[in-house]
Parts: sequence; C-alpha cells; structure tokens
Amino acid sequence: MNAFTIDQYGPPTAFSATKLSTPLLGAKEVLIKVHAAGFNPLDYKVRRGDLKSVIRISFPKVLGSDVAGTVMGVGSEVTTLQPNDEVYAMLPAPHFGGYAEYVAVDAKHIALKPKNLSFEEASSIPIAGLTAWQALRTKGNITQGSRVLINGASGGVGTFAVQIAKDVGAQITGVCSAANTELVKGLGATDVIDYRLQDFTKLPYQYDVVFDAVGNQTLSSCKSILSKKGIFITTGVSFTNVLNQTLSIFGGRKSKIMMVQADREDLYQLAQFAEADMLKPVIQKVYDATKKDLVEAHQQLEGGHTVGKLVMRMNFPDADEE
Ligand SMILES: NC(=O)c1ccc[n+]([C@@H]2O[C@H](COP(=O)([O-])OP(=O)(O)OC[C@H]3O[C@@H](n4cnc5c(N)ncnc54)[C@H](OP(=O)(O)O)[C@@H]3O)[C@@H](O)[C@H]2O)c1
Repeated sequence: MNAFTIDQYGPPTAFSATKLSTPLLGAKEVLIKVHAAGFNPLDYKVRRGDLKSVIRISFPKVLGSDVAGTVMGVGSEVTTLQPNDEVYAMLPAPHFGGYAEYVAVDAKHIALKPKNLSFEEASSIPIAGLTAWQALRTKGNITQGSRVLINGASGGVGTFAVQIAKDVGAQITGVCSAANTELVKGLGATDVIDYRLQDFTKLPYQYDVVFDAVGNQTLSSCKSILSKKGIFITTGVSFTNVLNQTLSIFGGRKSKIMMVQADREDLYQLAQFAEADMLKPVIQKVYDATKKDLVEAHQQLEGGHTVGKLVMRMNFPDADEE
C-alpha cells in the first residue's frame, strides 16, 4: 500500500512516500481503507520528537491519528462493524498509522461516520472533536446556562468546543485573533475577545468553565475569572497543570488536564450531533496525498494559527494503478 513514513525525527521534509505491506488484522481489529486523514498538532510534535519521552515509536513510522474510510475486513471477534461500513476513528498513540491507504484499528476506537458529512469532513473530527466533547461534557459537565470561556476558539479543538457548548445552551465567550471573530460568533459565541488586544484573564466577569484549548494558561492565571466552584480545563500538559490538578482536589476551583480518549461512544455522540446539524467541521484546507502537500500541511500546523482543521484526501497519485 502507499504510505508516508518518517525514518527519524525531523522537520516537515522528513516524510517519505513509500510502499508498505497492508496491515495484518488482529482478532479485535478492523481494516479500514482510508479515504481521508485529519491533521493535529500532535502529529508535528511526534514528528519532531517533542514527545519521545512519553510516546515511544519505532521507525519507519506512519503518523496520523484521525481517519475516515471504508471497512474492508473485520477480525474474528468483531461484532460491531462489517465490510463496506463507512467509519471514522481515532488511532491512539503510539500506533497511529493514518497517513496510509489502509490501517488496522481496534474496533473500540471506531464509530460509523456521520452520514451527512464527507470523508474529508469526518476525518477532521476525532481528536479535536473528542477533546472538546470530553473537556466540556465529561470534565466540565456544562449544562444550559453555564458560563463558558473558550481560549483558542478558532482552532481545531476550539471550533468544535464552541459548537458543543452552544448545543447545550451555554453562554459562550470565545478568545481568538481579530480575523476569526465573525467565524467564532457564527459558531455560537456571544462575546469574542481578541487576545492580541485584551488579556482575557483580567476580565471583570466570572465563568463556570474556562476551557484553555491553546494550553498556555494555568489555574492561577485564570483564578480571578473563575466562579467559586469554577473549573479550569486545559490541553496543556505542563508540570504546573499536573500539580494544580492534584492540589485543586481540596479547593473550590478545580483544575483539570485533558488527555483525550479514543472512545467509540463519544465518537457516536459526535456523529449524532453532526447528523442533527448541530456540529459542522470548519476546514481551512484539504490537501492531496503528495509529499509536497504533506510538508505544506505540517508547516501550516506548526504555525499554530490554523482556522479549524486541515485534512488530507488519500488520493495517492498512483493508487489506481495497483
Ligand atoms: N492533551 C490533549 O488531550 C490534547 C488534545 C488535543 C489537542 N491538544 C493540544 O491543544 C492545542 C490546540 O490544539 P488544536 O488542534 O486546537 O490546535 P490548532 O488547530 O493549531 O489551533 C490553535 C489555535 O490557537 C490559537 N492561538 C494561537 N496562539 C494563541 C494565543 N497566544 N492565545 C490565544 N489563542 C491562540 C489560534 O488562533 P488564532 O489563529 O486566531 O491566533 C488557533 O486557532 C495543541 O497544543 C494540541 O497539541 C491536546
């Protein structure tokens, strides 16, 4: 099969277009023909070796955590899916494998694709959508009327988070740069703050949940904008945030770190929201499955200012000739 691999940690140009054997299927696994793969900041962090002390990979490695495609075969113990099902999945670390024509995934990480979305749209959801869902619904427990502030509201996680908060009837303040104000308002935020003009941690308001999807804040920096029982949730896995998570068990205001889980039930819930037109991916660009485009996508990701999501259509140039 066609795939992109890295042979060592390195810059975006470290990828090679190559041929690999189609993965063998384990008893609990499903073989997916990948039609589209979503990109996440995790991809470039693993490619650069930033996470090598916590995510151990061997080379050559196929990166990529988010896919949408068609089921080609199921392992002997899989009862939930069958060939020709259209699915989407999060491929957990350290296995990954999304930047390839085929991937074998444990069935517990796969759900049926939202019927009303394209493969490209569906492939943009897993990590970012699950992170937003698990942060706001599972950790933040937001409900109708909750006052929620979302830092990084125009990014991959943030664009899903604003929509999920709107769907439950929360009052939303989004933080992003000025160029994305109208986008974030359109997704459901009532107030939008340009972080380049105003420090949101100094606002004279209090929120039930502050979701730091950028990962550049702490409980201390957000304390004055949290209500007495408010919850600070962050995607930033820093020493301070780990310590605060433990210490805040004893205080009124809580600090929680997001560690996204590849959960089939949550993917199912996200698909339900999408099919009810309550969740629509924002996609900045769909790339082709060429090395040139893959390099460009990783450069864009590393810039840290993607609007919504980036995805790759798995149209390998010579795939039809095989
Ligand atoms: N721990 C976990 O389980 C987990 C899961 C998912 C993601 N993450 C991490 O969460 C972070 C965000 O992920 P993502 O997929 O949403 O990334 P992304 O798509 O690259 O979005 C980043 C967003 O951050 C905004 N931003 C950049 N600098 C900012 C600043 N100084 N203040 C406020 N906003 C700023 C950008 O908005 P503008 O363009 O408007 O500036 C952009 O929309 C990444 O570091 C990722 O690795 C962690």
